[in-house]
Amino acid sequence: MGFMCCKIARRNMDCTMKWQVRYFIVSLCFIEAVFSHVRYSIPEEMTKGSFVGNFAQDLGLDIKRIVSGRARIFTTDSIEYVDLIRDKGILVVKERIDREMLCGKAGQCYLNFQIVLDKPIEFHPVTVEITDVNDNAPVFPKNELRLEISESALPGARFVLESAVDLDVGVNTLQSYTLKPTDHFNLKSQSLPSASKNVEIVLQTQLDREKDEEISLLLIATDGGDPQMSGTVKIHITVLDANDNAPVFSQAVYKTAVVENAIKGSFVAKVTASDVDKGSNGQVTYSMSHSSDDVDEIFEIDQQSGEVKVIGKIDFEKNRDFQVNIQATDGGGLIDSSKILIEVKDINDNIPVISVVSFSDSVPEDAVPGTVIAVFNVQDLDSGNNGQIHCSINENIPFKVTSSSNNFYSLVIDGKLDREQQPEFNITITAYDEGVPPLSINMTLVLRLIDVNDNAPIFEKSSYTAYVTENNTPGLSIFSLKARDADWNQNARISYILEETQINGAPVSSYISVNSESGVIHAVRSFDYEQIKNFKFQVKAQDGGSPPLSSNVTVSICIEDQNDNSPQILYPVQSGVSLVAEMVARSADVGYLVTKVVAVDADSGQNAWLSYKLLKATDRALFEVGSQNGEIRTSRQVSDKDAVKQRLVVVVEDNGQPSRSATVNVNVAVADSFPEVLSEFSDFTHDKDYNDSLTFYLVLSLAVVSFLFIVSVIVLVSVKVYRWRQSRLFYKSNGNLPVIPSAYYPPRYADVGATGTLQHVYNYEVCMTTDSGKSEYRYIRPVSQNLVNVDSSGAETMPHIQKEKLPTESTDPSLEVSAY
Ligand SMILES: *[C@@H]1O[C@H](CO)[C@@H](O)[C@H](O)[C@H]1NC(C)=O
Ligand SMILES: *[C@@H]1O[C@H](CO)[C@@H](O)[C@H](O)[C@H]1NC(C)=O
Repeated sequence: MGFMCCKIARRNMDCTMKWQVRYFIVSLCFIEAVFSHVRYSIPEEMTKGSFVGNFAQDLGLDIKRIVSGRARIFTTDSIEYVDLIRDKGILVVKERIDREMLCGKAGQCYLNFQIVLDKPIEFHPVTVEITDVNDNAPVFPKNELRLEISESALPGARFVLESAVDLDVGVNTLQSYTLKPTDHFNLKSQSLPSASKNVEIVLQTQLDREKDEEISLLLIATDGGDPQMSGTVKIHITVLDANDNAPVFSQAVYKTAVVENAIKGSFVAKVTASDVDKGSNGQVTYSMSHSSDDVDEIFEIDQQSGEVKVIGKIDFEKNRDFQVNIQATDGGGLIDSSKILIEVKDINDNIPVISVVSFSDSVPEDAVPGTVIAVFNVQDLDSGNNGQIHCSINENIPFKVTSSSNNFYSLVIDGKLDREQQPEFNITITAYDEGVPPLSINMTLVLRLIDVNDNAPIFEKSSYTAYVTENNTPGLSIFSLKARDADWNQNARISYILEETQINGAPVSSYISVNSESGVIHAVRSFDYEQIKNFKFQVKAQDGGSPPLSSNVTVSICIEDQNDNSPQILYPVQSGVSLVAEMVARSADVGYLVTKVVAVDADSGQNAWLSYKLLKATDRALFEVGSQNGEIRTSRQVSDKDAVKQRLVVVVEDNGQPSRSATVNVNVAVADSFPEVLSEFSDFTHDKDYNDSLTFYLVLSLAVVSFLFIVSVIVLVSVKVYRWRQSRLFYKSNGNLPVIPSAYYPPRYADVGATGTLQHVYNYEVCMTTDSGKSEYRYIRPVSQNLVNVDSSGAETMPHIQKEKLPTESTDPSLEVSAY
């Protein structure tokens, strides 16, 4: 295949407005090829039909061939910009060619197509270069711009403007901006801006609205085409009024006060700020700023009026003052700040609060003054006088409140406590503040006193006396003691204890027993007035405390006499066999004391008040008996006619109810001489025998007396031993053990007559064993019925115990003188 080399010599063509034929030097090199390549260069925007190139000549094709080959253009583009004229063999412009539309900002722009011939088929690529023509001026997006610049803008301030656009390329595109005038503003940079860059103007000198309120500038964008094209934009600058004057508060600090608990909406303060600027720059609005914590929730400032009001709860106890930072802002945004110092005034709105730190609800009654009962704390949240606390307690109780530091108080004992007087205290603590009116609170503590055994039992009487008629039954309850103890419970539980003493050598317990619980006193034995008339003992009442306290009381028991003894004739001695006679001389005067009947009565008082009477007499007129003294006297002159042998029977009676009596025979011999008497008395038939038998009886009785003495000594000793054992046993079992009366103690016998011969005291003993057949044993019945209590109301008289008749009682037969 042969190639045809083509050389296209192209003269560089300047862009001119001439639509002329270009000169081409085309070297075509045909290498027997099917095609050859030609290039042309045309400017854009040529009119239709404008010549593009003589392709016939350039390709070496003659017209015939072109016509016969039906030369035509083949292009893949939808629009054919170039047309082919066959009969001239040239290419012409078919459509308007706009380089900017075809290739945009690309530096070079080509049209490529083929010239196709048939018979034989040939095709020849053709490239048409479209060169740029300055057909676009720089264009700004808007032809007017409005700017507002504050007069306070400083020199050097930049303002960015939108740049112009020139669609052309190369020199034909945007080359430079110019700004007119330049007295206030200048362009930032004169260098060629790239298309995308914005243009900036820089403030050169300070604006002054007062001089130039409006500034007009002209920004010109020029390209490098020939002729030069340009675009302009008008810039209208409005110089804004600078907010020269800030608002000014009337005071740097506002001070005010508000009471706590002020209701919502209460007025607090009004602030004002002034601004000399006009319009919105002089329009002031108020606000709070940077206030601490909850100030925003408590206060509110009216934006327009500057009035501050309460909107929340003000509690002095939380905040004593507030600082409200306020701002005044004008329309230009200038601000002034100030602050309001709000002092909160306290109101006595908090009641003191008592809190008990410790409290013992019971204390022994012997606690000493100063003992701390309770410690408590009182708080009042108010301040000043409203928070100044005082404490007091109810009056007339032995306690006081002492204050220690920090509102701590102690409740201490301030006097003597006595549970027996007041077992419980209601201590009401009152705490009050000094507010007007004061607020107070009460709190009641109940304090119980614990019993201490500080009271001894006390008997209801200082001493007791009781009367018992003798011959009582053993076990008889005589009366009861009662003691009281002011203490409580165990400390008041009383036991009665019989104090051990001796009565006539025997322990008191053999006479008397005390029921330790009830205090009832019982007779242990039957009393015999003739043995003992009264006795004393002590009973102790003891409580159950630890240590126990006790007191004692003296109890006197008086035995009352019963007429249980008959008078006893001491003189003249009576004997069945003896015959003793009193001698009366016949010469005796009237009133001669023949003899005296001496009798005693073991009883006492009326029961022992004896009277004497002449019961029988041989000659009643001759003798008389002194009824008081028992003296037998002659009542008339003895005459010779009176019988020698006179027999008198004198009865001795006591004054008891019923009375007891004894009789005595008195033999009186009325004679002048003893032989006369003897002869008189010898007419008793058994004179001689009598003397013999008298001697015999004397001896016999001596022997018997000796024997009885020995026996009685033995019996006495054994009885003593036996009784000692039994009494011990009795204390344990309180059973019905026999108690044997001790020996018969000598009663006192007082002479009943003023002129008696027996002025001294007779002491004599009778051994109980002389009463052979009768038992002296007493059986003690169990303590039960028959209790006679002393009325607690304290009747002065002790109950008299009725005497029971005892069958064993009788007089000694050896002393009994048979009555007629
Ligand atoms: C203490 O208070 C209680 C209840 O109010 C009352 O029953 C009691 O009698 C009071 N005691 C004294 C000693 O005042
Ligand atoms: C009984 O009381 C008297 C005086 O009241 C006293 O001297 C005596 O010591 C007391 N006896 C006892 C055992 O308490």
